[in-house]
Amino acid sequence: MEKLYEGKAKVLFPEGPDTLRVYFKDEATAFNARKRGIIPGKGVVNNKVSAALFRHLEAHGIKTHFLEELSDREMRVLRVEILPLEVILRFRAAGSFAKRYGVKEGTPLKAPLVEFSLKSDALGDPLICPEAILALDLAGEEELSQVKATTLRVGELLRDFFAQRGLDLIDFKLEFGKRNGEILLADEISPDTMRLWDQRTGEPMDKDRFRKDLGGEAEAYQEVLRRVLKG
Ligand code: TMP
Ligand code: ASP
Repeated sequence: MEKLYEGKAKVLFPEGPDTLRVYFKDEATAFNARKRGIIPGKGVVNNKVSAALFRHLEAHGIKTHFLEELSDREMRVLRVEILPLEVILRFRAAGSFAKRYGVKEGTPLKAPLVEFSLKSDALGDPLICPEAILALDLAGEEELSQVKATTLRVGELLRDFFAQRGLDLIDFKLEFGKRNGEILLADEISPDTMRLWDQRTGEPMDKDRFRKDLGGEAEAYQEVLRRVLKG
C-alpha cells in the first residue's frame, strides 16, 4: 500500500479516513540523523512496548491515539494532527540537559521538569519556551497547560510502571496530536524515546547504548520488552 509518510523510525500507511497503520522499523538514528545504524528487532520491541504503555496509560485515564496491535511491527492508531512539539519530562539530569548545564548524568532533579523542543529536523529540534509556543501559536494556552499536566501524569504512571520492573525512568519524550479539538497522546513511547537504567547495575537499557557506542543495544531492547510484558 502507498505510504503516507516515512520518518526515521516509522512508516505511516493510510487506512480509512480516521485511522493509520504504523510500521516500526529497525533503523536507528541519533544526533539529528548524523549517526545511522540498525538495531535488529528494534521495530518489534518498540511496537510492543509502545502498545503496552499506551494500554497502561489508557487504563489510567490518559487519552491516546492507540487503537490496537496489528502484527509484531504494526499498530493501528487514530489520525491526529501532530503538534510540532517534542515534550520532554526529566526526573534526573542526562543527555542534552546534563551537557547544557554541566551537571553529572544521573543527578536527581528537585522536581520533575517539563521541557519543550520545536519539532524541526532542519533546525535540529531547538528548545522552545512556553511563551514562544504561545507567541508562534503552535498551541493555545489551554492546550499547552493540558499537554504539560498530562505529561507530568504520564511521568508518574510510567515511573511506577518501570520501577516495578527494576528499571529507573530517567527521562522521556512525548508527542501530542489534535483530533476534533481534543488533545491525544500520540507517536510512540519506547526505548528510542526514553532513558531507562537498570536499577541494580545502573546500565542504560535504551537508545543511549547506540548513541554512545556502548554495544548490546539489541539485547537491552529485548530485555526491556521482556520486563514490560512480565505484567
Ligand atoms: P535529550 O537529553 O537528548 O534532550 O533527550 C531527552 C529524552 O528525549 C530522552 O529520553 C531521549 C528522547 N529523545 C527523543 O525521543 N527524540 C530525540 O530526537 C531526542 C534528541 C531525544
Ligand atoms: N531521533 C533523533 C535523530 O535522529 C535523535 C535521537 O534520538 O538521539 O536524529
